[in-house]
Amino acid sequence: MKNNAMELNSNYYQSYMKGNYDRVSKNYDDNMDYKWQNDNDPRYDFENTVLSACEAKPSNFSALDVGTGTGRISLMIASKFPNANVRGLDQSTQMIEIAKSKTKDMHLKNISFDQYSIETKLPYSEKIFDIVTCSLAMIYFTQKDKFIGETNRILKAGGFCCVSTIGNEDMNSVLEPFWELYYKFNPSFVNTFNPRLSEEQSRKLFEDAGYSGVKVTSFKENVIFGSLRDYMALFNTYGLSGLLFFLPKSAAIQLMDEYQKKLESMCGPDGNLVVLREVLITKGQK
Ligand SMILES: C[S@@+](CC[C@H](N)C(=O)[O-])C[C@H]1O[C@@H](n2cnc3c(N)ncnc32)[C@H](O)[C@@H]1O
Repeated sequence: MKNNAMELNSNYYQSYMKGNYDRVSKNYDDNMDYKWQNDNDPRYDFENTVLSACEAKPSNFSALDVGTGTGRISLMIASKFPNANVRGLDQSTQMIEIAKSKTKDMHLKNISFDQYSIETKLPYSEKIFDIVTCSLAMIYFTQKDKFIGETNRILKAGGFCCVSTIGNEDMNSVLEPFWELYYKFNPSFVNTFNPRLSEEQSRKLFEDAGYSGVKVTSFKENVIFGSLRDYMALFNTYGLSGLLFFLPKSAAIQLMDEYQKKLESMCGPDGNLVVLREVLITKGQK
């Protein structure tokens, strides 16, 4: 019973997120590039990790960015390293369309994109990449161990795998009240999403897959989210609003009503919500 529920939730989540990124694609860059008011969003630390891995390779290296979205990381690599050969993979056709149009605007010839949804395999032969990156996408992969194993399979010896993902403490102050309410309205719900990882879990994923010199860094910052409205936009992007479809309409409305009241009480006198974010950056070498 529990297994069925878990499978159902995983399937639901995958298909919901697939549609969700198509829906949010047009506004994704605006939201991602939205500078938090104190301007120290820990997500951006990942770029430096990736750049240092690229600099350690001969200039004609090959790189794959998994869950590339609108190409934030893959386009950065392709533009900074013109001799490199870069691929970006994503399940969302619309996100890839935007990445492709940015490629054109940037006149880049050393990058291509593959539309593919990862289940347990990556669609590449073994030992063909020098670098594999994955920025803020692993949270959606239900079998993270298989995914990290696959990155190892497709890397050449000495290749680097760099992954940024959401840490255990990310946004707890605003997410815990949501889950509390959600279980109240849907007590039999089995939560399989568990997208966050601890530093130990991330290290173990890499070491079990055969990586050496694994380095996990946790970046935590108190981030000013802006108003409650700004937060709700992110809440929708996260896909959590999709869970409301498991509930009768009246319960969903009541839940969101209670949730917003709770969030309002957490806003400062200026109406802003300050939230602790945690991003884990893990790098390993094959
Ligand atoms: C938060 S976005 C990150 C995009 C980009 N890496 C960045 O840092 O801006 C997550 C991306 O993962 C992609 N994604 C989610 N599940 C996936 C799957 N199973 N296979 C391939 N891509 C997936 C989504 O379509 C989305 O573009």
